[in-house]
Amino acid sequence: MNIFEALREDHDVQRDLLDQLTQTHGDSERRAKLLQATRDALVHHENAEEQYFYVPLMQADLTQEQARHSIAEHHEIDEILETLEHTAPSSPAWLTHAKTLREKVLHHLEEEEHQVFQQAGKVLDDTEKQELATRYRREMSEQAGAD
Ligand SMILES: [Fe+2]
Ligand SMILES: [Fe+2]
Repeated sequence: MNIFEALREDHDVQRDLLDQLTQTHGDSERRAKLLQATRDALVHHENAEEQYFYVPLMQADLTQEQARHSIAEHHEIDEILETLEHTAPSSPAWLTHAKTLREKVLHHLEEEEHQVFQQAGKVLDDTEKQELATRYRREMSEQAGAD
């Protein structure tokens, strides 16, 4: 498995969670559980992806600006997530924020998969692509264990 396959696999998990999250209702246990699962999936992925994908991409001229842009989007996603976590699940604003989060993340994943991966493919060699996947996956399991 290479880094692109590893990241894409987790992107699909995020898409699925966000679809489910935006279909929840009111102050329910399902809503609370899905929010927690979505938060973990997003935050763990951002951390591991920054360390084992964007740090190496920052070192190459071709991908430096795109890497900065993606990391800035991670911060924007974190802010929406924080707003959502501070909104009462029973309030109508909750779903509005959840939908904003979904749109923002979907846009971000799309951009990573269609623009960043393509450029990164030119910068990383095959060994690096595999090693980064191993490190990324190890970091993801460590974070899952730490929760
Ligand atoms: Fe990302
Ligand atoms: Fe990503």
